[in-house]
Parts: sequence; structure tokens; C-alpha cells
Amino acid sequence: MSSYRLRSFSHWLLALFLTFTAVGQVAAQDAATVSKEGVTPGATAAAAPAAAAGSAAGATDAGAVAAGDALFKGNCAQCHAVNDVVVGPALAGIDKRRPLPWIIKWVKNSSKVVASGDEYAVKLFNQYQKQQMPSFALSDAEITSIVAYVKSEEGKGGKTPTAQGQPTADSGQTAAAGDDAAGSGKYINVVLIVLIVVLIVLVVTLVIIANIMKDVLRGRKDLDGRDVEILDQKTDWMGVLKSGWFKGVVGTLFVLVVLYESIQGIMAVGLSQGYQPAQPIAFSHKLHAGEHQINCAYCHTSVYKSKSANIPSANICMNCHSQIKTTSPEIKKIYRAIQRQQPIQWVRIHNLPDLAYFNHSQHTQVGGIECQTCHGPIQNMDVVYQYSALTMGWCINCHRETPLNTKGNGYYDNLVKLHNEANAGAPFTVSSNGGTECSKCHY
Ligand code: HEC
Ligand code: HEC
Ligand code: HEC
Ligand code: HEC
Ligand code: HEC
Ligand code: HEC
Repeated sequence: MSSYRLRSFSHWLLALFLTFTAVGQVAAQDAATVSKEGVTPGATAAAAPAAAAGSAAGATDAGAVAAGDALFKGNCAQCHAVNDVVVGPALAGIDKRRPLPWIIKWVKNSSKVVASGDEYAVKLFNQYQKQQMPSFALSDAEITSIVAYVKSEEGKGGKTPTAQGQPTADSGQTAAAGDDAAGSGKYINVVLIVLIVVLIVLVVTLVIIANIMKDVLRGRKDLDGRDVEILDQKTDWMGVLKSGWFKGVVGTLFVLVVLYESIQGIMAVGLSQGYQPAQPIAFSHKLHAGEHQINCAYCHTSVYKSKSANIPSANICMNCHSQIKTTSPEIKKIYRAIQRQQPIQWVRIHNLPDLAYFNHSQHTQVGGIECQTCHGPIQNMDVVYQYSALTMGWCINCHRETPLNTKGNGYYDNLVKLHNEANAGAPFTVSSNGGTECSKCHY
């Protein structure tokens, strides 16, 4: 009967383990639902204060409002409405979004505010396709009265106040949603870690209990033969280590790993995928091409026109940095390079061997391929790295798979017709046009 107890003990262990796994799964599902629901409340919460701003009209001085009305209609109305986006953003809620001194500075000279590197201003400016709002020679009092007028008009007619394209409102919403998703992700992780810790503690406790029970059983005299057998069970580790099959398995694994590693090593000779050297100036594509959405070709001016994509000269940086962040130590490095009349020594990342011919304009302009297809998410990189392998196989694979854009190009009409007759249905790829012939890529 004690053997019965021992066996039921192992059943207990199994049942406990299963319960915990089930609990774990339910918890994870809960977390997932929380995250799904969490997005909407988070978003509305972010939008709520903005909406509240719309109804806060009324408590303003009637004289200032009347003066503001006239000034607004005379100066601002061609580009702004209070509750709608026209050329510029809807102005409803502006006194909540920005402090009055900022608004005054902005209306007097908005480009100066953008050039000062003010984060909000730069973002807004980029969001509105870099349209320059004109400068106004208005007095502080006049601008204050325009704000008072805007406040009095908030929420009247038009669409929902402030909901249209204000960077604060919608970036707030996305940020809230993002935070929420991240939050629930963290929640799941915490639950999992807690569960794992609980499981470990449980296993350790159970092993201890099992040992205690064995000790208790050993102390008893009334055990039958099978109970004694179970009690005296031991794993013969030395026997396993010395056995032939064990040596065989370990040996085979070892040989396989060594072979795999050496083949990988040989294949990687001359490859520099992932190469990410430190650059002399902490220039960030994430900041420029990502956040500020500066077009790639603004700096890499020749990428659509010629074989090589150029690296911009310091003069291109100065288009902006003669105004923006002029006191930053990193920007001072650009000034020094210009003073010394020496180019900035950027470290080259991508570099095909001289035996291969690659032409950017052929791929970007004619082929219409996005930079990111070959260079990866450059707009998210603080420091650029080589994303693709740049091997011959990489070039050839794409040429085999990518259909050639022949539409509206009379040159290809006859070729495509002949190709379709010979290969029913197969698309006319770069390779069908001779894109895998050695001489196309090798000098
Ligand atoms: C020619 C068009 C134009 C005129 C006229 C104009 N604005 Fe603007 N305004 C814009 C644009 C475009 C933006 C968006 C930012 C940018 O691209 O510079 C903007 C942005 C603003 C902002 C920031 C809005 C926000 O949501 O943060 C304020 C405040 C503003 N304008 C006030 C005024 C006032 C006050 C007047 C009249 C005295 C005026 N604007 C006249 C085009 C104009
Ligand atoms: C404000 C100017 C600027 C913009 C905009 C810009 N770049 Fe660059 N890019 C540079 C500079 C400077 C370097 C050299 C320093 C470095 O590698 O970070 C560079 C380097 C690179 C390199 C690596 C060149 C090498 O050495 O092999 C690639 C690839 C690249 N850019 C692609 C892009 C793409 C794609 C975009 C658009 C999404 C873009 N760049 C936008 C300035 C710019
Ligand atoms: C079209 C405008 C523009 C051009 C061209 C441009 N930048 Fe910038 N740069 C910016 C803006 C905007 C910022 C962000 C300023 C801020 O964060 O307030 C910035 C920030 C920087 C910073 C970070 C400064 C700091 O201390 O935070 C560096 C470094 C920088 N740029 C280097 C360069 C270099 C090098 C070039 C030329 C290859 C260049 N930039 C070209 C607009 C530009
Ligand atoms: C079909 C793949 C492909 C596309 C698309 C592509 N590139 Fe490249 N890029 C390359 C290769 C390959 C190299 C290395 C060229 C070499 O070493 O001669 C390179 C190199 C560069 C360099 C370093 C300077 C040079 O020319 O060697 C820059 C900068 C660059 N690319 C920017 C861009 C930008 C910006 C775009 C988008 C407008 C773009 N590339 C699109 C494959 C591509
Ligand atoms: C992402 C896909 C892609 C990759 C990767 C790619 N190519 Fe291409 N390539 C194209 C396309 C598409 C065209 C056809 C452009 C056109 O003429 O419409 C093309 C055309 C060419 C041509 C002209 C072929 C002809 O028939 O005239 C050459 C040469 C070439 N590529 C070289 C290269 C080299 C070298 C590499 C690798 C370093 C490479 N390509 C990588 C897509 C790619
Ligand atoms: C689509 C472009 C393309 C075509 C077509 C192409 N190659 Fe290549 N080839 C390359 C590129 C790019 C490299 C360099 C890649 C590297 O270094 O890994 C290369 C490298 C080589 C190398 C290696 C050289 C070395 O030093 O490692 C040989 C050999 C070669 N190619 C032969 C050929 C032959 C033969 C053909 C025709 C059957 C051919 N290639 C067709 C793009 C091409």
C-alpha cells in the first residue's frame, strides 16, 4: 500500500504541473485581452483633454474677442480656420497646446522658431510639408486677442475640434496605444517570470518532500519487495557515460557542429553583412531620414541619376546646420571641417569588389526599387550598417524573381511577345532580359 502512495505522489506532481501550465495560459490570454481593450481607452484618454479644451470657451473679454476676430479674418483666415484644417492646422485648443509666449514668437517669425530647433515647431513644419507660415508685424496684445478670439470660437461648427492633424493630439494617441501594447507585453513577461519562479520553487519543494518521504519509508519495517525496489532505485550515470551509443551520439554531434561552423566560416570570407563602423560625426539617419523625413536624395543627390550614390558634402549639412543646433559639439565638427577645407572622413560601409558593376540609377530610377529593399530600414538606423549580403547570389536571385517593368515602353513589346510565346505564363523577369549574363555585371 505504501507503493500505492508513492505512485499517487507522482500523479500529484503531474496534476500540479498541468494546473500551473493551464493557469499560465489563461493569464497570458487575459493579458492579451487587456492589451486589445487597453488601446481604445488609452487613445480616448489622450484625446479627452483636447476635446475638453474645445468647450472651455466663453470666459473671455468681449472687446479682445472682437479685435481678435477682425485681425484673424484680415491676416490668418486664408490659411487657418478655428475648427478645421485649411492650409495650416486648426487653431482650436492652441492655448492648451502651446504657451502664449511661444505663440507670439511663432506668429512674429515662425521660421526662426523652426530654425531654433524647437521640437514641436520642427515636427509641425515637417507635418505641413515644410510650408513657411509668413511672419506678421503684430503686437503682443494683438496676437493675444487673436488667441482670445480663437478660444471663443472653439467647438462652433466645423468638424471635431483639434482632432484634425495636430501633432499633439495624434502623436499622443499613437504614443498612448504604443505604451499600452508595450505595457501589456511587459505584463505577460512578468506573469511568465513569476510562473517560472513558482514552478522552480515547487519542483525543489517536491524533491525535498520526496526525499523526506523516502527517508521515512526506509525507517519502516513492513515494506514489501516492490516498495524496497522503488526505494533503492538509482540511475547508473557512469554506465550511461561509458556506453557505446552515448559516445556515438556525442561524437556525431561534435563532428556535425565543427563541419557546420567551418562551412559557415568559408562561405563568410569576404562577406561584410552587418558591418557597422563608428563614424567621425554622430550623424543619425533615424533622426534625419526618419523623424525629420528628409528625402534620401536631398543628401544622396546622385542616387537617381548616376552609377554611384554620393555621400553629401559638408555644404549640404550647412543648408540646415548654419541655423540648427549650432552649438552642439557634433555640429561644431562640421564647422571645423569647413574651416580647414577638408572633407569629413566618413567610413565607407558598402563596397563591392572592383570586378563587379553595379549602377544605382538603373535600380532606383529605372527599376523603381526602394532604397530599403537593398539597404534595409535606414530610416530607423542611428548608425548605418550593411543590411544585405551583397553577394553575387543575392544580385542574381533578385534578377530571377523580379518582373521587369515593361509597361508603356515600346522597346520591350516584341521581346515580351516572343518571351510569352516561348514560356507560357512565366513572367518576364530581369533575368529573361539577360540580367544574369556574366558580362552585365562583370567588366
Ligand atoms: C500662408 C498661410 C498661413 C497664414 C496666412 C497663417 N498661417 Fe499659421 N500656419 C500655417 C502653416 C502651414 C502652419 C503649420 C506649420 C508650418 O508649416 O509652418 C501654421 C501654424 C500655425 C500655428 C501653430 C498651430 C499649432 O497647431 O500648433 C499657429 C499658432 C498659427 N499658425 C497662427 C497663425 C496666426 C495667428 C496667423 C495670422 C496672424 C497665421 N497663423 C497665419 C500657415 C499660415
Ligand atoms: C541629411 C543627409 C542624409 C539623408 C537625408 C540621408 N543620408 Fe544616407 N548618408 C548620409 C551621410 C552623411 C552618410 C555617411 C555617414 C554614415 O554612414 O552614416 C550616409 C550614408 C548612407 C549609406 C551608407 C553608405 C556607405 O558608406 O556605404 C547608405 C546606404 C545611406 N546613407 C542610405 C540612405 C537612405 C536610404 C536614405 C533615405 C531613407 C538616406 N541615406 C538619407 C547623409 C544622409
Ligand atoms: C534638411 C535639414 C538638415 C540637413 C541637410 C542636415 N541636418 Fe542634421 N539635423 C537637422 C535637424 C532638424 C536636427 C535635429 C535638431 C534637434 O534635435 O533639435 C539635426 C540634428 C543633427 C545632429 C544632432 C545634433 C545634436 O547634438 O543633437 C547631428 C550630429 C547632425 N544633425 C549632423 C548632420 C550632418 C553631418 C549633416 C550633413 C550630412 C546634416 N546633419 C544635415 C536637420 C538637418
Ligand atoms: C538593388 C539594390 C540597391 C538599391 C535599390 C539601392 N542601393 Fe545603394 N547600394 C547598393 C550596392 C550594391 C552598393 C555598393 C556599391 C558599390 O560598392 O559599388 C550601394 C551603395 C550605396 C551607397 C554608398 C556609395 C556608393 O554608391 O557606393 C549609398 C550612399 C547608397 N547606396 C544609397 C542608396 C540610396 C539613397 C538608395 C535609394 C534611393 C539606394 N542606395 C538604393 C545597392 C542598392
Ligand atoms: C532587389 C532586386 C535587385 C537586386 C538585389 C539587384 N538588382 Fe540588378 N536589377 C534589378 C532590376 C529590377 C533591374 C531591371 C531594371 C530595368 O531595367 O528596369 C536590374 C538590372 C540590373 C542590370 C542591368 C541588366 C540589363 O539587362 O541591362 C545590372 C547590370 C544589374 N542589375 C546589376 C546588379 C548587381 C551587380 C547587383 C548586386 C550587387 C544587383 N543588380 C542587385 C533588381 C535587382
Ligand atoms: C547580377 C550581377 C552578376 C551576374 C549576372 C554575374 N555576377 Fe559574378 N559577381 C557579381 C558580384 C556582385 C560579385 C561580387 C560578390 C562578392 O564579392 O561576394 C561577383 C563575383 C564573382 C566571382 C568571384 C570573384 C571573387 O574574387 O570572389 C566570380 C568568379 C564570378 N562572379 C563569375 C561570374 C560568372 C562566370 C558569371 C556568369 C555565369 C557571373 N559572375 C554573373 C555579380 C554578378
